[in-house]
Order: sequence, then structure tokens, then C-alpha cells
Amino acid sequence: MRRISPVLQQDGVDPDLISLLKTILAACREIAFRVSQGELAGVLGSTLAENVQGETQKKLDVIANELLKEVILETGVVKAISSEEEDTIVPGNPRGRFLVTFDPLDGSSNTDINSLIGTIFSILPADANKEADDASQFLQAGTAQLAAGYVLYGPSTMLALTTGKGTRLYTLDKTYGGFLLTEEHATIPKYTAEFAINMSNQRYWQPAMQRYIADLLQGKEGPRGKNYNMRWIAAMVGDVHRVLCRGGIFAYPRDMKDPTKPDKLRLMYEANPMSFLVEQAGGASSTGYERIMDIVPTDIHQRVAVILGSKHEVETCVGYHKTN
Ligand code: AHG
Ligand code: MN
Ligand code: MN
Repeated sequence: MRRISPVLQQDGVDPDLISLLKTILAACREIAFRVSQGELAGVLGSTLAENVQGETQKKLDVIANELLKEVILETGVVKAISSEEEDTIVPGNPRGRFLVTFDPLDGSSNTDINSLIGTIFSILPADANKEADDASQFLQAGTAQLAAGYVLYGPSTMLALTTGKGTRLYTLDKTYGGFLLTEEHATIPKYTAEFAINMSNQRYWQPAMQRYIADLLQGKEGPRGKNYNMRWIAAMVGDVHRVLCRGGIFAYPRDMKDPTKPDKLRLMYEANPMSFLVEQAGGASSTGYERIMDIVPTDIHQRVAVILGSKHEVETCVGYHKTN
């Protein structure tokens, strides 16, 4: 149901933070436009470059990163940014009060098949005692986030946003040119019968995850006593959006397919902002062993195992990790 309301204002939220969010959303509207143009704008396909994560960059990864970087640093309220597509942090205004981390384009493998992709972002407080080019200023636990969100470039362009007062969903109204509030309190049901995981990695998971999924797959006849359905969009932003809309469990667990990279998702660009959104909607988020937002990062590009979604299901999955 469409409701016109002050777009981002919420009681007690810092006006500078609101204006920074509006700037990020302006860049996302531009990304949405470029995405919608697809092949017409020549934005599909790969570049010849690899990012710091060792992944081939898609043209859209680079375009989205440049757009976001430019507008965020221009605000003057941001001390530094850290992006999945940048080797190191990029300093901004030394007196800026905020740090911004982002995954400019999540779901890169979906770009060329006209499937779901998105932008994920997180805002942290800047430490006045650190230099703007000091990467250690970013090494804050997810609990320190001031705001987090994603913009999903789907059939509708949607925004999920939290400033720690619940999770709200907005829809981009292209006739009006802005995001309108369409769900004031996203609420993840506590129980679910839907899971999202890349089953092709099954044989590489740790024993706890193997047993958890094996029990789900036994359905009514197994220990869980009900049938589960599976969905996999291959873009965390799409899978988490479904979880915010109707519940479910999403997992990208540790796997030993490439022992040099046991975890896939990035703590600061993906796991922390998504965990904040999910927890604020009544869900839970864990590595299997600890709450994701409690992890104090040791590196800006750190990766982490992720299990998030409907609270009871996440707690059940975490239970399997207690017995190895
Ligand atoms: P990115 O496109 O930013 O590199 O992230 C892709 C991530 C995440 O969005 C998704 O859940 C996962 O990779 C998909 O992994 P598979 O290739 O194993 O399906
Ligand atoms: Mn991503
Ligand atoms: Mn990405």
C-alpha cells in the first residue's frame, strides 16, 4: 500500500545522517536507471580487471562504485569510505562525522541475466582521534552501525533501511522521483519452512551445517516434522529481501571448496548491514557460533559465515553448531 510520508525522517535521527542517506539514495537512483537501461547503455558484461577480493569486476560493479564514491565523498560529512571494490579505504573530509562502507553491486553474477541485484550500505560513526586515511577506524563491531540499508534493483526498485528504530521498506516512485514508505515495520515471522542456501557446496560444509540441512530435507518424515521449500536467488540482497518480506532462513556457511577462502560474504559490506536490518525486523543473524554484529573486525575486507532470518530457525541451526 503506497503511503506518501516524509521520506526518511524519523524522530530523533541526526539530520546530518538523514541528509547523507538521501545522498546515497540519489546515487542509487542513478544506478537503478543505468541498470534498467541494460544493454542499451552498454553496462552489461565484465571488465578486464580483478578487484581486491580476487573476483573479475563487472562493468556495473565499477560504475556503481564510482557513482557512490563520488557523491558520498562530496557530502563533506564523511571522513572515509570503504568499498568491496576498492583495495584500501578512501579518505574524505578529515572533520567528517561518518564512515560509509558499501557493496556497490551485490549479485554481480545476475547482471547479465536481467535478474535481481542491489546496493548494500552501512554507516558508522567516525572517531575524531583517528586520521582520515587510517583503515583501523573502520574496525568497529556491527553493533556500532548508525544506519544500514540496501536498494534492490528488481521489478520495483526498493529500499530497506534501518537507523536502529525498526526496519522500513520504501519503493521508488519513478513518476515522483523519490522513495516512498511502503512498509513501516518490516517483521520477519519467527517460524518458517523456507530455506536459501547454495546446495552445490553441500559436500564442502562443516558437519553441523551438513546435519542441519540433511534434517530439513527429510521434511515431514524427519526430526523437523515438516516439509521445507528452497529458494536461491544468488544475490544476498534478493534473498534477504524475501526473508524481510515473508521470513525464511538464508545461509552462506563456511565451506572448504577453496580452503584459502572458507567464508564468502564480506562482514563490513554485506553481513553487518544485512544483520542490522534483519535484527531490527525481529530476526536473528549468526555465524553459527556467535552473533555477527558482535564481531570486531580485524580487516576491512574480512569474510564471515552467515546464517540469518526467522529467529526460531536461526536458533535451531545455531543449536546444531553446539554439538559440532
Ligand atoms: P557480489 O556480487 O557482491 O560479489 O556478492 C555475491 C554474493 C552474494 O550476493 C550471494 O549470496 C552469493 O555471492 C552467491 O554465491 P554463489 O555464486 O555461490 O551462488
Ligand atoms: Mn555482494
Ligand atoms: Mn559486490
